[in-house]
Amino acid sequence: MTTVRLNSADPVSFDTDALVVGFLSGSEGPRPTAKGLDAAFDGKLGASLNALGFAGKPGEIAKIPTFGAITAPLLVAVGLGESADPESLRRAAGTAVRSLAGTARAALTLPAASEREAEAIALGGLLGAYSYARYRTNGEQKAPVGELVVLTSAEGSAERVSILADAVAMVRDLVNTPPMDLWPAKFAEIAEQEGAKVGLSVEVLDEKQLKDGGYGGIVGVGQGSANPPRLVRLAYSHPEATQTLAYVGKGITFDSGGLSLKPSAAMDWMKSDMGGAGAVFGALLGIARLGLKVNAVGYLCLAENLPSGTATRPSDVLTSYSGKTVEVLDTDAEGRLVLMDGIARALEDDPDLIVDVATLTGAQIVALGWRTAGVMSNDDAIRELVVSVADEAGEGAWGMPLPEELRKGLDSPIADIANLQPERWGSMLAAGIFLKEFVPEGRRWAHIDMAGPAFNKGEPHGYTPKGGTGAITRTLIGLAERAATGLNK
Ligand code: BES
Ligand code: MN
Ligand code: ZN
Repeated sequence: MTTVRLNSADPVSFDTDALVVGFLSGSEGPRPTAKGLDAAFDGKLGASLNALGFAGKPGEIAKIPTFGAITAPLLVAVGLGESADPESLRRAAGTAVRSLAGTARAALTLPAASEREAEAIALGGLLGAYSYARYRTNGEQKAPVGELVVLTSAEGSAERVSILADAVAMVRDLVNTPPMDLWPAKFAEIAEQEGAKVGLSVEVLDEKQLKDGGYGGIVGVGQGSANPPRLVRLAYSHPEATQTLAYVGKGITFDSGGLSLKPSAAMDWMKSDMGGAGAVFGALLGIARLGLKVNAVGYLCLAENLPSGTATRPSDVLTSYSGKTVEVLDTDAEGRLVLMDGIARALEDDPDLIVDVATLTGAQIVALGWRTAGVMSNDDAIRELVVSVADEAGEGAWGMPLPEELRKGLDSPIADIANLQPERWGSMLAAGIFLKEFVPEGRRWAHIDMAGPAFNKGEPHGYTPKGGTGAITRTLIGLAERAATGLNK
């Protein structure tokens, strides 16, 4: 476990194993952002690093021994690029701390003039320290940095930062867990245990209650698996709250596609298909620990999508919790089927805003790539709010439309709606259009498709590790922070 604290000590004399120093890039070469520190190296830091090929660009890192010029034996230069905005600080801190695995103590001196910047450095450091070692037996994986100190005279709450980092780490752990060890009932059990620790009220519906309650979508998706589905409701309330948020997460603990089976190459990372429910769960834990002045409910729509003799068949018709009927043309378009029930159930909480979060479509990755989630809404101001909160958190997100003309592609010859449009073009938007059908006129709702951002198949970067990323968790907490001061109606 990595800890973080803020301290206004002088970086030159600070006792630590490694001192991380931020550098700006520019035409005159890398420029250190800690002035007194450069003096300790006779003003030669920039030139020496330049000689090593270090320019101060984002993602760049160089390590040099200090030969006694400062107390720390190792200096870690990390690039910030041309300007030190909060996200470049988070990324630089993450890059540096990630590279220091195996080191006991590290201190960071990066430019922080405000609380926001000081917290960005601390958060980037903690998120970069994440590691997942549950299934390693060879002891080859180096332990993350134990103790981080952000050297700054700015104020900032190490506690707030730790709460955010813990929430993200929880989500990453869940996403990384192999599906044999994280099935719907297991996820629900973890939600009950962890929820209780932070004072959330937790209710779990099992497969019988789901069937009796009319949750045809969650039941239909889950019925092909020996591990039956669950719907978890997590609730947090504050006595002075004026707003209620409802978050609904797609929690497919494994998505094989069902009878509309995926090809192997598209399946091996489908343990990450519960990332939306993970983000909702992490956010509720964070909101409760921060004690935000809002009411928040989170729904985890949990099912395992497998083919079997009991699985839903393409052309079966499911009746959703809302009463609408859905013809399942493709059992691999299962996310919208569990979400339609979660959204319909969330309406009963009479929320001021519903946000669903889902690894919903491959089309999101086609349109926006790995790191940018698509945000759709039935309200332009809400869509812009979600995008701006995500942006502030450093979580890539971009507004996308819900073109009405796509609705007719979802017509079913026998049911109220089909779960698939016949053509592949615009399928991220068509999925959003499908979900919008379950949101009554006038009810503010946003849909976040984070199929790409939930899981990093590539190399680690900034504060993002390989595998589960915990994406959108901080956006959901940020939205609750905004709502605590009042969403504009
Ligand atoms: N879980 C997948 C979407 C996905 C794809 C997430 C890649 C993460 C990475 C989803 O259930 C799915 O299979 N979607 C289909 C929908 C299609 C059948 C309309 C897709 O996008 O291909
Ligand atoms: Mn699918
Ligand atoms: Zn899926």
